[in-house]
Amino acid sequence: MDREFEEFIKNNIPKIDGFHPHFKEAIEYILTTGGKRFRPKLIFAVVKALAPSMLHNSLYAGLAIEALHTYSLIHDDLPSMDNADLRRGVETLHKKYDEVTAILVGDGLNSFAFEILSKSPFRDDVKVKLIRSLAENGGIGGMVLGQAIDCHFENSPLELEKIRFLHKNKTGKLIASALEMGAVISNRNDLEEPLYNFGLSLGLLFQIQDDILDAVSDEKEAGKPVNSDGNKNSFVTILGLDRAIEEANREAENIQKLLSQFPENLRDSLSLLLEKYIYRHITK
Ligand code: IPE
Ligand code: IPE
Ligand code: MG
Ligand code: MG
Ligand code: MG
Repeated sequence: MDREFEEFIKNNIPKIDGFHPHFKEAIEYILTTGGKRFRPKLIFAVVKALAPSMLHNSLYAGLAIEALHTYSLIHDDLPSMDNADLRRGVETLHKKYDEVTAILVGDGLNSFAFEILSKSPFRDDVKVKLIRSLAENGGIGGMVLGQAIDCHFENSPLELEKIRFLHKNKTGKLIASALEMGAVISNRNDLEEPLYNFGLSLGLLFQIQDDILDAVSDEKEAGKPVNSDGNKNSFVTILGLDRAIEEANREAENIQKLLSQFPENLRDSLSLLLEKYIYRHITK
């Protein structure tokens, strides 16, 4: 599936006409240079367990959420936000090209996410639900709100509940959307809400781990600058490393509990992913 998804991305990069010297190259560069593809993999894990015949079609939803996530990273790295020069082990777009290119490639990928969903082979009602989930969770009431709070409150320490709210919006909701999309594609209305709530918890843990990574890993391992959260409301900055690790462990236990409510094959399918991406940085 991993190779199939990378092929799918290459084959579905939007056609770009015209005479701009590097716009097309910039879109290809950012869509094809790595990343864990964690959100698409969550969709595929759910669909594989619940409706395997829909697995090929789910590639469209995988590309949509990865395009939106990639736009969020491009903008996150801009000088006016986190000002980072490295992403996924390579130069960030504004560094390799210029800021205007980075802003516009981000804008373009945001709308491309919804374009690809609108052209996907799902039933119309399924398409609308997917578009709605991605828009609500990746947009003003989700990731964008989280980023706005994150940036606005730099250098102003927040209390823990507010940091949880920030992380839930910045990172949790998009991850929850991936899991919900898996249920929608699989036609399992009964699992939409439980999978969404599981995703919120998973997303919170994912961001705590990302904050821990900033403190304990190096640029080579992370593929992005490290020790850069000093003025942020990151879990490590606010709680210190040990308590951040405790938080991560607590959230990991909660996730195990939530996982146990799912049918066995769904639990197994998700556990495989979690083993790979979740329990890496939570012990010293
Ligand atoms: C990075 O996301 C930003 C966060 C929300 C923590 P990922 O860790 O999924 O980044 P890539 O896609 O693998 O580069
Ligand atoms: C960004 O969080 C989350 C997004 C919504 C893009 P971070 O700023 O911690 O992500 P990294 O560490 O740069 O990947
Ligand atoms: Mg950021
Ligand atoms: Mg950042
Ligand atoms: Mg980070």
